[in-house]
Amino acid sequence: MRVKQSEGLFKRFLPYFALLGAVRLQFAAAIFFGVIFGVASGFGLPFMADRVFPVIFGPEPPPTAILLTVTALIPVVFLIRAASGFLNVYLIHYCGGKVLEALRVRVFSKLQELPLAFYQKNKSGDLLARVVNDTGQLQGVVTNVANDLIKQPLTFIGALGAVVYLSMKQQDLLFVLLALLLVPVCILPIRIIGKKLLHRAHRFLAQTADLTTILNENLTATKEVRAFGLEKREIRKFEQAAQGLFHWAMKVVKYSHILSPTIEVVAAIGVAGAVFYAASRGVSLETILPLIFALYMAYEPVKKLGRIHNEIRKGEASLERLEYILNTEDTVPDPEAPQSMSLGQVRGEIRFERVFFAYEQGIPVLQDVNATISPGEVVALVGPSGAGKTTFANLIPRFYDVSAGAIRVDGMDVRDVRKEDLRRAMAIVPQDPVLFNDTVRSNILAGNLDAPPEAVEYAAERAFAHEFIHELPHGYETVVGEKGMRLSGGQKQRLALARAFLRNAPILILDEATSALDATSEDMIQQALAGLIQDKTVLIIAHRFSTIRLASRILLFENGRIKATGDHEKLYITSNVYKKLYDQQYMT
Ligand SMILES: Nc1ncnc2c1ncn2[C@@H]1O[C@H](COP(=O)(O)OP(=O)(O)OP(=O)(O)O)[C@@H](O)[C@H]1O
Ligand SMILES: [Mg+2]
Repeated sequence: MRVKQSEGLFKRFLPYFALLGAVRLQFAAAIFFGVIFGVASGFGLPFMADRVFPVIFGPEPPPTAILLTVTALIPVVFLIRAASGFLNVYLIHYCGGKVLEALRVRVFSKLQELPLAFYQKNKSGDLLARVVNDTGQLQGVVTNVANDLIKQPLTFIGALGAVVYLSMKQQDLLFVLLALLLVPVCILPIRIIGKKLLHRAHRFLAQTADLTTILNENLTATKEVRAFGLEKREIRKFEQAAQGLFHWAMKVVKYSHILSPTIEVVAAIGVAGAVFYAASRGVSLETILPLIFALYMAYEPVKKLGRIHNEIRKGEASLERLEYILNTEDTVPDPEAPQSMSLGQVRGEIRFERVFFAYEQGIPVLQDVNATISPGEVVALVGPSGAGKTTFANLIPRFYDVSAGAIRVDGMDVRDVRKEDLRRAMAIVPQDPVLFNDTVRSNILAGNLDAPPEAVEYAAERAFAHEFIHELPHGYETVVGEKGMRLSGGQKQRLALARAFLRNAPILILDEATSALDATSEDMIQQALAGLIQDKTVLIIAHRFSTIRLASRILLFENGRIKATGDHEKLYITSNVYKKLYDQQYMT
């Protein structure tokens, strides 16, 4: 049972030992210096005490030359011990750090692959905690464990050897038995405490994630907190989470540190047994003292190994949280045998065939949607809020997969081509575009990382953004601040359009911003749009009827269905919903 469990633990960590492969030389060196350190302290120092000093302080004073050599040996041994000790610790941390780096990158890479649905189920603060905090915890485990996993068993074997040797001299092997007995006796508390610790470490990490989530949310809503006077409520929330964190941190401390004293008490019982046995057999003090000492020395590594077990338990909790990310299945996977879709050949026909979709089971959002958008056609999606327009658009680049039916681009099911190829064929301007905390230039370049430098300014010109960019303190090299904080709403939208210009993809999907802009901004954006839609298949989710004019056909959405299609004149006469939407906007 015990073997099976430790085997299980070992197996859990096994895939991650492969990460040490990249630093195997440093790791081997670390072990090498660890052994040198062990020999220098475990053997070198006692050797000096046992063999060298008696000679120097013998009845005859030794010749000065020998005395000098021997005394010089003292700092030399310490130097070897110090240097190898330092190198051992330094290299172990180096390897641990490298493993951590690789693990972080692996988790982060996985996060890039995961579909949007994953981010709706998981709080970003929690994911943040997993990437930053849990990997850090795991690093602590790797280095601590790697440190002791070599030194401690060696020490135990050494101490056991001493017990055997001393017992043989006594011709009484019962002491060996005593030394061996304490290992199984100590296993019990190690196992019980380890299990409790795992559970508490989990709670502690979850609580850390809660704290991060609150902090993260607070930092993204700084304006709302001040505008609505939520400061006190936010502080209370944070206080509660901090209290919870303290509670579970103390539990972890308790179970981490109760093990050593427990094992010490067990050791004392063992030693008492040895003393009793020796005394009742009339063994002399000189013979029993070294034995008791060796026996005690054998407990030390058992104690340390117990601590390692605890560490591993803590690491296991972190590992499980990381594996949650690493093992999450991609619900929007790439096909095994992808059909080729090369950018130059995409015509841009989009077809929805009997499409059904739900974000959550049982709550249908799109129902039996059929539509064909021809290459080069400009189509506007219109309908009341919540009708499913954005959802319709989200399905084309496979941000989500349909529940039933199919979506085809140029006749190919979007699930049969690689997501990368599919998405390269489209430029998407979301309802609320996000800018990176980087320069204006690199924010536009995000639309197409391979674009030549002069293309950036050309794209900005066509998006009517060049002028305002020119007036920024550092022009194209101005950093826009987190989420583009230093830009106005209209400026952000024009940067998003510049990205789309730069991408120059055959399919353009535009989710128009709902926020109203001033007339000049609005006018510039309309002109930019008119340029952008040339020679492309265009889907515009239009909130402003000025935009609808650009479209040759309108799809009217209502309650997750396409209720009507046609041009403005036709819909205005035939559809009450459309007429109402249109009139409402022109009344205001
Ligand atoms: N991520 C999501 N998870 C669950 N439900 C969602 C999600 N996104 C949208 N919905 C729901 O799906 C329905 C359609 O939403 P969608 O965003 O497609 O509407 P819309 O037509 O774009 O509206 P608007 O004009 O306000 O942008 C709504 O009822 C909405 O509550
Ligand atoms: Mg929308």
